[in-house]
Amino acid sequence: MKTVILRCAAAFLLLLTPACDKNSSTGAGQGNNGKIKIGFLVKQPEEPWFQTEWKFAQKAADENGFDLVKIGATDGEKVLAAIDNLAAQGAKGFVICTPDVRLGPAIVAKAQQADLKLVTVDDQFIGADGKLMKDVHHLGMSPRDIGYQAGELEIAEMKKRGWAVADTAVCVSSFEELDTAKQRTDGAQAAILASGFPKEKIYNAPNKTTDLPGSFDAANVCLTQHPEVKHWLIVGMNDNAVLGAVRATEGRGFGAGDVIGIGINGTDCQSEFEKSAPTGFFGSLLLSPNRHGADTTMMVYHWVKDGVEPPKETYVKSATFINRDNWKDELKKQGML
Ligand code: GLA
Repeated sequence: MKTVILRCAAAFLLLLTPACDKNSSTGAGQGNNGKIKIGFLVKQPEEPWFQTEWKFAQKAADENGFDLVKIGATDGEKVLAAIDNLAAQGAKGFVICTPDVRLGPAIVAKAQQADLKLVTVDDQFIGADGKLMKDVHHLGMSPRDIGYQAGELEIAEMKKRGWAVADTAVCVSSFEELDTAKQRTDGAQAAILASGFPKEKIYNAPNKTTDLPGSFDAANVCLTQHPEVKHWLIVGMNDNAVLGAVRATEGRGFGAGDVIGIGINGTDCQSEFEKSAPTGFFGSLLLSPNRHGADTTMMVYHWVKDGVEPPKETYVKSATFINRDNWKDELKKQGML
C-alpha cells in the first residue's frame, strides 16, 4: 500500500514539479561560465558521512575544473524538484544517494526526460518489481563482507574480555528495508554465528529511521525485553545505528566494560573517540568516503565530457578498523583530517 502511494506521489510530482532554485546550494544559471555542471544529491546532509562524500566530490570538481551543485534531498519531493533545478541550471548529470530507494523508477524517468547522466552512490534503487535496479550505474561499499568483518571483530573482542556466552547477547540494530543495510547486519550475524555463538541470543532491533534517535528507540525495546543480559555486543549498518544503541545501554546503566559496539563508516564517530573516557562504542570500520564522493563524481564527469560510460556496478571493498587509538592516523591517511 505504502509503495503504491509513494509511486503515485512520485508520478504526480514528475508531472507537476516546477523548475526552481529553492533546494540548490548555488543559484547559478545555465552555462554561466561554460564549465560542465554536475549535481550531488544526498539523503541525509546532516550526516558526516555525506558531508565527507561532498568534500571529496568538491575536491574532484576543483581539480578538474567543473562545477558541483550539492543538494540535500531529504524526501521524494525534494529529489524530483532538485532534478528539475539541475536541468534548469544546465547541469549534465548527477550523483545521488536517494532518501527512498523505491523512488528509483521515478528518478530514472526524470533524469532521462532531462537528459541527465545518473550514478547512484551508497544506496541502490529498487524497481517496481521489488528488485535492485542493476541497470542503473552504482558505486557502493561491499556490504556483506564489511558487515562480516564487524561481526568477527565483535567476537574477537568478546573473547579478549573473557565474557561468558551465557551472560552475553547481540543487539542487531537493523534497517532491513534498505538492501545495503540488511546485507551488512546479515554479514555481521553470519560471522557471529560462525564463531559458534547461539542463534537464539541474537536479538533484532529494527530501526524505524536511519538516525541516532531511530537506533536509540529500537535498542531500548530490545534491552527492556532482555534484562537478564550482562554484556552486549552491538552491530548495525553504520555508526549512527550503533551509537544510538550504545546510548540506550548507557541509559540502563551499562558501562564501556560491558558493551562492545562496532560501527561502520568511521566518519560519524569522531566526537565519540574524542571523549575523555572510553564508551561502549568500541570502534568502527572506516570506509572510503573519498572514493564514494570523488569516483562517482568523476564517473559522471567523464561520461558527460568524453562519452565514457562507467561500469554498471563498482564495489569498494576495503574497510579499516579504527578505535580510540588509531582513528586520527587512519582518517589522516585518507585526507579526512
Ligand atoms: C548508507 C548509509 C550511510 C553510509 C553509506 C555507505 O547510505 O546510510 O551512512 O553507511 O550507506 O555506503
